[in-house]
Amino acid sequence: MAQQIHVNAFEMATPGHINHGLWRVPGNRRTQYKDLEYWTDLARVLERGLFDAVFLADVVGTYTTYQGSRRAALRAGMQVPNIDPAFVVPAMAAVTEHLGFAVTSTTTYEPPFGHARRLSTLDHLTNGRLAWNVVTGYLPDAALNYGLTEQVKHDDRYAIAEEYLEVVYRLLEGSWEDDAVVLDPAGPTYTDPDKVHEIGFEGRYYTVAGPHLSEPSRQRTPVLYQAGTSSRGKAFAARHAEAVFLLPRDDQQGREEIADLRRLAVEAGRGPRDVKAFVGAEVVVAPTQAEAEDKVAVLQEHRDLEGHLVLFSGWAGIDLSGDDTDAFLEYRGGDAMQTFERMWSQGEGRKKVGELVQHLSRPENDSRFVAGTPAQVADRIEELVDTTDADGINLIQHLSPGTFVDFVDLVVPELQRRGRYRTAYTPGETLRERLFGEGVRRPLPGHPSNAFRTAALDQPVG
Ligand SMILES: Cc1cc2nc3c(=O)[nH]c(=O)nc-3n(C[C@H](O)[C@H](O)[C@H](O)COP(=O)(O)O)c2cc1C
Repeated sequence: MAQQIHVNAFEMATPGHINHGLWRVPGNRRTQYKDLEYWTDLARVLERGLFDAVFLADVVGTYTTYQGSRRAALRAGMQVPNIDPAFVVPAMAAVTEHLGFAVTSTTTYEPPFGHARRLSTLDHLTNGRLAWNVVTGYLPDAALNYGLTEQVKHDDRYAIAEEYLEVVYRLLEGSWEDDAVVLDPAGPTYTDPDKVHEIGFEGRYYTVAGPHLSEPSRQRTPVLYQAGTSSRGKAFAARHAEAVFLLPRDDQQGREEIADLRRLAVEAGRGPRDVKAFVGAEVVVAPTQAEAEDKVAVLQEHRDLEGHLVLFSGWAGIDLSGDDTDAFLEYRGGDAMQTFERMWSQGEGRKKVGELVQHLSRPENDSRFVAGTPAQVADRIEELVDTTDADGINLIQHLSPGTFVDFVDLVVPELQRRGRYRTAYTPGETLRERLFGEGVRRPLPGHPSNAFRTAALDQPVG
């Protein structure tokens, strides 16, 4: 039987995330990204559609590569202004019972101790529905906001991330024993002091004494997402990621990247399916082809091409505003996202600046884009997932919440009819159980966090 397809909603608390200029489309609620009601309404739509989770992207800087300035990003509302996604999660959790929440946070700037508490806090408040999208951060000016004078080098960011995760694992998995909280009214004893341990971590980048401040949540370590496919990025994902998010150039590249990730996970002592793969998908759906085409025309009419050039320039670290549109993109192994720098500067995808600008001028140019009837869209999603050997999709939006409402009303029933989509949530399951099966609340054996479980620590510290 064909596997069920996992579906996340790809979101960001900002006017323009992936598709730009669309805040002007009548009925699109993008300008309400800072209103609680926007998020609670969205959460109800996604839970009605039985989505796995909402994936909340985030950046802690602005896009300054395009034209060497952030002016175009500000003009377009291109990922600025924005608000901290962690703060919308409790509100969404309060109006839902099952929907998961993947929150992006960088390992390069904010120290791990405070972040580990934030993770426990959100996993408690969501009753075990939290995921963390572990990013290292690719925007040059972010570093200047955190006391640094320049961007941290690409591979150094991953080295920091390795140590960062070890600290987080020690705090979440190794500081509090499962039965530390005893609630003994006779004592009276709330917590058994012998069951809470300092971590006494001294590393190259961090020194953290501990103990962690929060008692264990249902998942302890939230589900770990990651989204980097440079060689350093893949090595990191193969060790730590439980889910990887990819935006491949085409299905073939997606298939190659996912196969490589699974191979590297096995080399890292894990199972090939211990890493779930999610590929990006862009969907415009309507009862008829003609209506779908009308919707695409509205999107095209409002598309802010410069917004897309700003985004890609920031992603790849290549300024697309240059006049020499006949020049080929050059791969330099820069400090932004090497995945995207390589994607359009090497091999089959190699393009001239002008060709890439042309490519970015219409949504249909992206292999992940599909517009049509529910059956046509379901065909493409099945093909995308089956060809790439992915486990699911991250649904990229055009209209908020229009894209998701259409998907829930028109595509979900079609995928259910084909047996490719759940028809109900499993009551009380954690997000990790949704991905890996009933009872799997903690990372699977072979995952590096297991080495730091209290039981695994031969000599509890402190
Ligand atoms: C689909 C996708 C979503 C991403 N979302 C974010 C994000 O929200 N915030 C962020 O700082 N980086 C984000 N990244 C960047 C990655 O975390 C990573 O830094 C990037 O892919 C570079 O990795 P690489 O150089 O190993 O290829 C995303 C990357 C991809 C592919």
